[in-house]
Amino acid sequence: MIRLLPLLLLVACAGPASKAELPVAKPAKPFTTSWHRDIQPLVEVHCRTCHTTGGIGTFTLDTFEQAQAVRDAMASSVKQGRMPPYPAAADCGGPFVDENRLTPAEVALFETWAQEGGPEGDPADAKVVMRPAPEVLASVDLTLQANAPYLPKGVDDYHCFVIDPQQTESRFLTGYEVVPGTRTQVHHVNLFSATRAEAVARDTAEAGEGYTCFGSSGLSSQNMVGAWAPGAAVVNFPKGTGIQLPPDRVLVMQIHYNVSTGTPLADRTTARFSYATQVVQAALVIPIADNGFTVPPNVTDFTPRNHPFPLVNNLMFGGQPITARLWGLGAHMHTRGTRVTVAHDSGCVLDIPKWDFNWQRQYFRKTPLTVRPGDRLTISCTWTNETNQPLRWGENTEDEMCIAFLYVTTSI
Ligand code: HEC
Repeated sequence: MIRLLPLLLLVACAGPASKAELPVAKPAKPFTTSWHRDIQPLVEVHCRTCHTTGGIGTFTLDTFEQAQAVRDAMASSVKQGRMPPYPAAADCGGPFVDENRLTPAEVALFETWAQEGGPEGDPADAKVVMRPAPEVLASVDLTLQANAPYLPKGVDDYHCFVIDPQQTESRFLTGYEVVPGTRTQVHHVNLFSATRAEAVARDTAEAGEGYTCFGSSGLSSQNMVGAWAPGAAVVNFPKGTGIQLPPDRVLVMQIHYNVSTGTPLADRTTARFSYATQVVQAALVIPIADNGFTVPPNVTDFTPRNHPFPLVNNLMFGGQPITARLWGLGAHMHTRGTRVTVAHDSGCVLDIPKWDFNWQRQYFRKTPLTVRPGDRLTISCTWTNETNQPLRWGENTEDEMCIAFLYVTTSI
């Protein structure tokens, strides 16, 4: 009240006659967007799961001032579909659990808000919105790390660590979380299970902690358990399902280190697991792939002529074709991939129209898809090869892959 007083006095003294000479308080064209009314609710739901203190986003969007300072970058990142990072196409395979997308109208709001200079608007317009709670593991039953910190070598280093749960009886993994030791250089992590005998033999054959590997664990007994890449959430497998881990198996954590800064930091990445002694349906991660492709030199957005590549014969278990419930899937290519699509007789299953090596994740369906023996399941991969060498399947960075990991249960 006291603060308002001089202004009131001024108005009172000026009197009605000189009102027209006072500076106009309102702009000629009022802003159509407001931080409080339009942008903050979107940021809360779609961005702040990562862009907050302790999140994986490289900056925070906790306050109006912070958001206003990066309004142009925000507008261009949402317009170009880089943010929020959710590369799966909306019109294929969903609805998925944890989808994070903006509608075209919401993207337009970010753009207009940036063009208008990022107006704050009236705090009274603020809406109370609930940020989706960050996903947490249903329970943390097992926490594993390499035996010792590891110092990556070179710019790209692919290294496998044998992490032994030392179980005496069979268990089912029902979820996992990967916590990178050094976020700036852990590029991605793949989790496998393999027989203890094979994993330990491979580990001891190479001096130092872990062993060199690329693309996979390099072990013939490997089964995929999961994967982590920047942006990948905690994974709780669908309720009642889990991956069996017999006592003769260990876990292998394959880490791709990218040390672009040139100064490697010692890393000790942590993997946490939930497990159950029983599940309703045992799950498998079945990799299906075309490993016989050739991408010719100097091509843009090239898809091999035999794609969509039929994969139904790979949906086998114990030598038998299986009826499977497909609960979720992820795809994997290396850095020259531009698109990957998985399809089934019933329609599109997963489409990543702008493949981004840095945003790999698993997509769990809200309802599983039944895949029967004889059903056609296909994968289609597209690459841009700017080199003078043909690209083929292989484990090295300069090789390529075309693979989908299907999380399936085999009983109906
Ligand atoms: C899943 C986590 C996650 C979510 C959700 C997310 N971001 Fe990001 N964002 C990141 C990470 C990590 C980076 C840095 C790495 C990169 O650029 O890919 C980043 C980078 C950015 C950048 C700078 C680079 C660029 O692409 O322009 C902007 C701007 C940005 N985010 C805006 C947003 C906005 C706006 C939203 C919500 C609409 C959002 N982000 C949602 C994780 C996230």
